[in-house]
Amino acid sequence: MTARLVPGSGTEALASAVAAQLGTELTPCEVERFPDGELRPAVAEVRGDDVFVLRSTGPPVNEHVVELLLLLDACRRAGADRITAVVPYFGYARQDRRGRPGEAVGSRVLADAVASCGADRLLVVDPHTAALEAVCSIPCDMLTAARVVADAIRPSIPDGAVIVAPDLGATKLAERYASLLRHGPVAVVRKTRVSGEEVQAHELVGEVRGRPAVIVDDMISTGRTIEAAMRVLESHGATPAPTVVATHGPLVAGAIDRIAQLGVRGVYLTDTLPVSEAKSLHVCTVSALLADAIDRLTHDRPLDELLFLV
Ligand code: R5P
Repeated sequence: MTARLVPGSGTEALASAVAAQLGTELTPCEVERFPDGELRPAVAEVRGDDVFVLRSTGPPVNEHVVELLLLLDACRRAGADRITAVVPYFGYARQDRRGRPGEAVGSRVLADAVASCGADRLLVVDPHTAALEAVCSIPCDMLTAARVVADAIRPSIPDGAVIVAPDLGATKLAERYASLLRHGPVAVVRKTRVSGEEVQAHELVGEVRGRPAVIVDDMISTGRTIEAAMRVLESHGATPAPTVVATHGPLVAGAIDRIAQLGVRGVYLTDTLPVSEAKSLHVCTVSALLADAIDRLTHDRPLDELLFLV
């Protein structure tokens, strides 16, 4: 079976880098936009092929979700033999349970839609929660960018640094970084989210006094979580100017400026979403990780050490 990489609109930079590492070319795909906002994608010949559709579902999330679903359907109707949805940033993953009566479970809705539109497999990077696998009716491989980012920050991490999870959900990822960076202590901030733009950090478990901190999260959206964690770190006597690390950077609602004003030592993100060229940001590419995973899947080899296992 021939492997084909179909890029969603705006993903060409990452997709081209992945294709170059696979030694292949991108499969042409046009996404026509109607005056009322509807999208109409059309893919080139993929009949009988092993197709990988690359489309993160970052901002504008709902538009990108619909584009992903239409691309999957287009590939299925064009006769693809096997379809993998490569969704490095899986939007709606934070809606993994009902926070109050009457809510939907967005991650389940999106996972069902991806499967019903033709994907045989889902490939994501550092999803908000490993529970994503459980809500998927198709095999879901969760890769981690932790090794890539840890390699990038290792030279600049001061001795005695403490790895900090800015909320309970980030604890496993923080432990993964602590292990990769061979730094012992992990501290955890207890956070509650009041709304999409407001979080409250209450207390901290772990010893941070006099230590430089590395704050590790799956994503930075508004930057409020990082801001709240920094306040708690400061009040507990951590060394000022932490390093901030996250896999995904939707970076909405003034997040870049907000974080720049906080006085961080550096912010490290990956290119699972296009990241603007802000001076304060270091962008690590996940292209080699994705290319490796796609190559293994194409040749039916295990993903093993590429996976985010908790
Ligand atoms: C939430 O639990 C996530 O792990 C992140 O901490 C959160 O989504 C970051 O969002 P924001 O930057 O808006 O605080």
